[in-house]
Amino acid sequence: QEDVFKKLIAHCKEYGFVFPSSEIYDGLGAVYDYGQNGVELKNNIKKYWWDSMVLLNENVVGIDAAIFMHPTTWKASGHVDAFNDPLIDNKDSKKRYRADVLIEDLLAKYDDKMSKEVEKAAKRFGASFDEAVFRSTNERVLENQAKRDEIHTRFVKALNDSDLAELKAIIEDYEVVCPISGTRNWTDVRQFNLMFSTEMGSTAEGAMKIYLRPETAQGIFVNFLNVQKTGRMKIPFGIAQIGKAFRNEIVARQFIFRMREFEQMEMQFFVRPGEEMKWFEHWKAFRLKWHKALGLGDQKYRFHDHDKLAHYANAATDIEFEMPFGFKEVEGIHSRTDFDLSSHEKFSGKNIKYFDPEINQSYVPYVIETSIGVDRTFLSIMAASYKEETLEGGDSRVVLTLPPVLAPVKACVMPLVKKDGLPEIAREIINDLKFDFKCAYDEKDSIGKRYRRQDAVGTPFCITVDHQTPEDKSVTIRHRDSMLQERVAIADLHKIIGDAVNM
Ligand code: GAP
Repeated sequence: QEDVFKKLIAHCKEYGFVFPSSEIYDGLGAVYDYGQNGVELKNNIKKYWWDSMVLLNENVVGIDAAIFMHPTTWKASGHVDAFNDPLIDNKDSKKRYRADVLIEDLLAKYDDKMSKEVEKAAKRFGASFDEAVFRSTNERVLENQAKRDEIHTRFVKALNDSDLAELKAIIEDYEVVCPISGTRNWTDVRQFNLMFSTEMGSTAEGAMKIYLRPETAQGIFVNFLNVQKTGRMKIPFGIAQIGKAFRNEIVARQFIFRMREFEQMEMQFFVRPGEEMKWFEHWKAFRLKWHKALGLGDQKYRFHDHDKLAHYANAATDIEFEMPFGFKEVEGIHSRTDFDLSSHEKFSGKNIKYFDPEINQSYVPYVIETSIGVDRTFLSIMAASYKEETLEGGDSRVVLTLPPVLAPVKACVMPLVKKDGLPEIAREIINDLKFDFKCAYDEKDSIGKRYRRQDAVGTPFCITVDHQTPEDKSVTIRHRDSMLQERVAIADLHKIIGDAVNM
């Protein structure tokens, strides 16, 4: 799996999907640029989300708030005081870690050890893995299991109690098996705020310290009244937004899974207090359906309900996707009560209540939030679509079986040869299609090589113009996944492509 992930990262670079940021200067940690194909895929993901949220829901409207916000926003939201990660340094290696991630690695190490022992036992018994677990009295398995459980229990308690000394103690007690460090020379665990700050303007009193937003949600909360009043919105209604967010992540790894500059697609849905659970369930189901409609495989998704809730939430779940490195969060769905609006009311001194004509009452609405990362969605789609196939005759190909609606290029038009008027016909076909579909033109190398190039970027259709075309206005169309080719009329191309790429 790790190998596949490495290949995927290399593929993303080689085919213009994702580049390390400022690569000529050796890159910048956990910051990435999207290339010519990546930007198309990313834009298509955003459109697919926007259309399903804003276009299809009459009571959801969009906004585009600024990245810079008044600094009091982040006091009110709790980010200044509580948007922290526990940090620990190893004094010998001079390396910095997130304490909780280090412990999670430790737990994974124990899981790994245990599986290896069980696999050995299974071989010995000639039994299945599950039977071997069941029958195993193997001392090492039991020992590893007991240690793992002990770390886990201590870890959960330490996190719940925000007990930084205990986090350090766990690392010191168990790091012997931890692959990352061989020494016991750790600093204390301390809280590290994840917000980037900068200065705005320079006045006689000095510049104002402002933050790059760590989530887009607050831009929606502070505009609640503006949108509600100017749009004459009636509860329940939602406000959606797509935009950049910034977090000074300590652990930068797993490619575009955890970035310092990333993009979110968030929607806050404002409801009557007491009705939030109904809407929480509604949006949970709606959002899962959206993911599954991409056709990447229903079994690749699962809900992960939170046991430990943030102080402002009364329900929370993640939609997790099976990445090459395990099931990971792609989207969060949270019932945030009236925490944010009430807090902004308090800090701003403005009245942020809604008058509900149906029940003749004013109240601060409750909020259901759906919050999905564009980049994580991008990664999940690439990971599920990347395939190395062995073909008949021993040949092989790398193909991205991207959902056609998201593919960067929908069709590549190819003249069989560079003469006999075939390139001109290919150009005419593109001129007809290009207003509705992103098209490419390719006349270089053999048709086989050209097909492979399009497979590698996930183009659903290759259209070949040959010597029959001038005679009967027909072309061959080759389907990416099945590699089947059929003869069709040029006049039918628009409909064939449209049927496949419009959801
Ligand atoms: N307003 C709620 C909020 O921001 P979150 O769970 O912190 O909630 C929501 O973030 C989503 O944003 C995550 O599910 C993930 O997809 C994405 N995300 C968060 N941090 C990220 C990072 N460092 N890199 C890439 N995506 C990230």
